[in-house]
Amino acid sequence: MGARALRDLLGDWRSDAPAYEALSDRVRLLLLDGRVSSGIRLPAERELADALALSRTTVAAAYRRLRETGYASSVQGSGTTTRLPNARPAAGVPGGTLIGFTHASLPATRMLPSALDDELLADYRSHFGTLGYDGIGQLELREAIADWYGRRGLPTDPEQIVVTTGSQSAIFLAAKALVNRGDRAWAESPSYPNAYDALRDAGARLITTPVTVEDGWDLPALEAAFQRSAPAVAYTMPDFQNPTGRSMSMRDRERILEAAAAAGTVVIADEATAELDIDRGVVLPPLGALAEAHGAEVVHIGSASKQIWGGLRIGWLRATPQLARRIAAQRGSTDLAVPVFEQLVVARLLPHSAEIAEERREQLRVGRETARTMISELLPDWTFPPRLDGGLAAWVNLGAPVSSQLALAAHARGLLVAAGPRFGIDGAFERNLRIPIAADPQALRQGIEVIAELWPSVHRLARAEFESYAGTVA
Ligand SMILES: Cc1ncc(COP(=O)(O)O)c(C=O)c1O
Repeated sequence: MGARALRDLLGDWRSDAPAYEALSDRVRLLLLDGRVSSGIRLPAERELADALALSRTTVAAAYRRLRETGYASSVQGSGTTTRLPNARPAAGVPGGTLIGFTHASLPATRMLPSALDDELLADYRSHFGTLGYDGIGQLELREAIADWYGRRGLPTDPEQIVVTTGSQSAIFLAAKALVNRGDRAWAESPSYPNAYDALRDAGARLITTPVTVEDGWDLPALEAAFQRSAPAVAYTMPDFQNPTGRSMSMRDRERILEAAAAAGTVVIADEATAELDIDRGVVLPPLGALAEAHGAEVVHIGSASKQIWGGLRIGWLRATPQLARRIAAQRGSTDLAVPVFEQLVVARLLPHSAEIAEERREQLRVGRETARTMISELLPDWTFPPRLDGGLAAWVNLGAPVSSQLALAAHARGLLVAAGPRFGIDGAFERNLRIPIAADPQALRQGIEVIAELWPSVHRLARAEFESYAGTVA
């Protein structure tokens, strides 16, 4: 890994801790988040020192600390290589497994087995005479997706759909088609981090405006940013924004479309979590259903992962037929096409989306109440979102900027959780942690217990640091 690449990933890494400690902590966090892989060679000490305007001794001390804590190893003459130490399984976890809080997703719907019948196999066999490479997706699935949009108030032709390898791939393909290198792309802050990465990989320079648990979208800031920067694309999650869980009001929807139309910005509306409504009480239209009235263009992103199962790896995008064809024509460098079998499975289950949404609603309600109750009992310093009526996660406020320290301590105890800064672009959100209410309730309880055990020491340390810092400026 080059020094400049690491510098870009490090972002705003400095803290009140000594530089070598803050630097090694940030590299550990990047490793835990998966943004730096295990087994790669870190830049030479001198190069990183130059890139970060630090002394070589500081970088050497940071690397030494990484080695001592098990996050790096070095072989004479071949530099320092990252590694992930084996985390200790959390006490009492069955089978000694780790607890995973890094993915906010549910296991397969109860309806999945019913789709795997003889009829499906016969249908699958009937495709064996084809080449199997269908760059836009199987017609029966595109028809089922078009019907799904139609039921949600957005009439759609199968020609407008491109089936992709999960919606992650749809986000990337849309960005690649719509962004030229150096273009601005707007996104929410905080947001789904893999979307930031996809936009960056497509060559975009990111600009963000806030979404908060309390107040939702900051529309005046969003409008000013669109007017000032005229972003090529705007990536948004109107329904059950990840990680805040907020959803846009009707007026929010209209205002973002008006701002986008005025700036010539194409809106990429990610609806991977749009049907995960626990108890919002109203059904609001997809952005695309309002786009024409506002002169805006919307590309919709959809996914089978959160409703049906992530293991199928089926997602899609909905665009104008011309854009859909252009996107399909340029997917050769990514995945060419999507497996036929999984597409047929989704085509069978998508017509049952209302029934599946009901099942998900109950699972998420249990997760939300488990997390809310445990946090109010065990972690009274924290603030659970006052309103969380859908989505897969709770964006909790820790009341102190210690998210990275907490995530590092949790990892050593076998709980893998992404720290708040993973959901921003500049090291912000140290006061937040994303708790997946979609996690299995037992794992959710165990994970929160692990955090509650760690909390007093992490919090005490942070307070001591803060007080010594405050003392120096008083
Ligand atoms: C908002 C959002 N969009 C897209 C994705 C990508 O999911 P997949 O590629 O499984 O469809 C996720 C996954 O967590 C997500 O949370």
